[in-house]
Amino acid sequence: MISVLIPAAGSGERLGMGAKALLELRGKTLLERAVQAFAGIATEIIVALPEANLELLVQNARVVGGGATRQESVQNLLAAATGDIVLIHDAARPFLPREVIERVLEAVQRVGAATAALPVADTLVLEDSGNWGQVTDRSKMRAVQTPQGFKRSLLLEAHQKALLEGVSATDDAGLVARLGLPVALCLGDERLFKVTRAGDWALATAFAEVWDNGLSS
Ligand code: C5P
Repeated sequence: MISVLIPAAGSGERLGMGAKALLELRGKTLLERAVQAFAGIATEIIVALPEANLELLVQNARVVGGGATRQESVQNLLAAATGDIVLIHDAARPFLPREVIERVLEAVQRVGAATAALPVADTLVLEDSGNWGQVTDRSKMRAVQTPQGFKRSLLLEAHQKALLEGVSATDDAGLVARLGLPVALCLGDERLFKVTRAGDWALATAFAEVWDNGLSS
């Protein structure tokens, strides 16, 4: 059984347009797009929404209240999940190719934990007081995306440990890696970019038509 958990309770502060997951691209919210990506794969889909939007009906999904942080929202989602495998996907990534889900699922069965991740195209440098610091070897660096998949018992353990130790993380794979357990990296996708700032929104607005017409692969 596969539970798909979608944190969608962010306030969208950096975008400044209100609750980001509820913004529409060509008549569909980011959240609806994320939910629809899992059609035929999920046994259950649960979404975490801001407290102010809890009355919202999300087709094919159950709703739980979000927390003050993404990590808290995922904890609430996990508490409601029943599948032996959980796939976690941010609503802020509305364009999710099916093959990425399949790669992550295959790796979860094998390794127990897996995430989509992409090689990095830009040169990476550590900033030193506004100046060029140390260069990091970009061939070894990966930008971590979602979906991320886990055996549910493993992710529960990772979240419980993080809670006990007061550790916060921006994703779930990082919490599992803290347990000293392997997390498989599967090839992600450029189209899976996260809508965070105004430039991402502009890109998403333009790209939605290409995606909806199946012209992006
Ligand atoms: O903040 P960021 O854009 O990285 O958020 C990633 C995902 O986590 C988004 O889909 C957002 O809605 C969700 N989130 C959440 N609860 C929060 C903060 C973020 O569900 N308190």
